[in-house]
Amino acid sequence: MPGGPASFDAVDLIRAKRDGRELAGDELSWLVASYVAGDIPDEQMAAWLMAVYFRGMSVSELTGLARAMVASGEVLDLSGLSRPTVDKHSTGGVGDKVSLVLVPLLASLGGAVPQMSGRGLGHTGGTLDKMESVPGWRSELGTEEIRAQLESVGCVICAAGASLAPADRKLYALRDVTGTVESVPLIASSIMSKKIAEGTSALVLDVKTGSGAFMAVRDRAAELARAMVDLGKSAGMKVAALVTSMEAPLGRAVGNALEVAEAVEALQGRGPADLMEVTLALARAMLELSGLEGDPRGALEDGSAFATWRAMVEAQGGDPDAPLPAARVTEPVLAERSGYLSRLDARSVGVASWRLGAGRARKEDPVSASAGVRCLVKPGEQVGKGEPVLELHTDDPARLARARQALQGAIEVSEEQPAVPAPLVLERIG
Ligand code: URA
Repeated sequence: MPGGPASFDAVDLIRAKRDGRELAGDELSWLVASYVAGDIPDEQMAAWLMAVYFRGMSVSELTGLARAMVASGEVLDLSGLSRPTVDKHSTGGVGDKVSLVLVPLLASLGGAVPQMSGRGLGHTGGTLDKMESVPGWRSELGTEEIRAQLESVGCVICAAGASLAPADRKLYALRDVTGTVESVPLIASSIMSKKIAEGTSALVLDVKTGSGAFMAVRDRAAELARAMVDLGKSAGMKVAALVTSMEAPLGRAVGNALEVAEAVEALQGRGPADLMEVTLALARAMLELSGLEGDPRGALEDGSAFATWRAMVEAQGGDPDAPLPAARVTEPVLAERSGYLSRLDARSVGVASWRLGAGRARKEDPVSASAGVRCLVKPGEQVGKGEPVLELHTDDPARLARARQALQGAIEVSEEQPAVPAPLVLERIG
């Protein structure tokens, strides 16, 4: 029986969680192992996830859930590498292509970055979906390939393979389509089970807050950050979290190939200011936790981070010089008045990009590499009446109307010039 000799009843555990009873470690282990083994169907697990969404979890339940998810697969042993292991993970945002820049950047500064990533979740994009728009690139790597690439290139971005935290892979896909993403214990256990299983010794978390984040309210984001920092510490990691603002999309590109193109520019020292502010703050924290020294801005300007990106893409079968997929149809969204863009709502832009094809409606759906939104004007910049603020990209023109609907009320233009933008890094925890 999965989960060892203990055996429980799925309906009892759903009812217990629904009614607010604290689940014990062996109950959580059994539930997770039985779901991974296929003995508990999606509909029962979805009901349990919804109960967790409404009831939350105690510290001991969260620890039990994360342990059960780690125990669903193997834990990589990266202790023999010649470089210190250090990774980063984001709780998910709109236009958040930071990993694509940061992973090769840290490797170019001497780190070994073993990034196990996820796919798009809800209105937020996923690093794997973005990377798969690079022709030929492969997300599935075996343990030996990961270790070899960390030695030769210094970094890897890949799917948490079937052998690493398989419970997260299954739960993540189910949560994406059952409205159970925005939950502190479910996000914390999802992220930390992957990070513990990948064997990194240092980790910096980018916990997003604001309209485009799963934790829109700052206090909830800080709570999530603390929960993850505590889980990491109890697993023996050096871990810190930066709480960063996600009120507007990060950079100008939202959508898979569009974001890869922007990341490639950033890797050559030409990234937009907001993307670079968050990327460099995370890079400094990663250097500090891993005991490395170096100049992240310099590595972007002197070509070393870009050379590492090319080596990483090639090592995983990708062609860094191949043209990225481009959408068949583009349409502008126009400003209704002249002035300064005072708000560009991140969540609405994320939902529009999702509806244009960049995200999934059902867990088996493919994503479009070329769909997305380009933000031609960013908050604080000037725009004239009738000029384009956004550009919608899709291969399927039937999707445009629903994307436009998502954008209703998302764009505000004011006559007054806004104050200097507030810093995006709001707080550090751990
Ligand atoms: N990223 C993850 O890996 N898991 C979540 O639940 C949310 C963001």
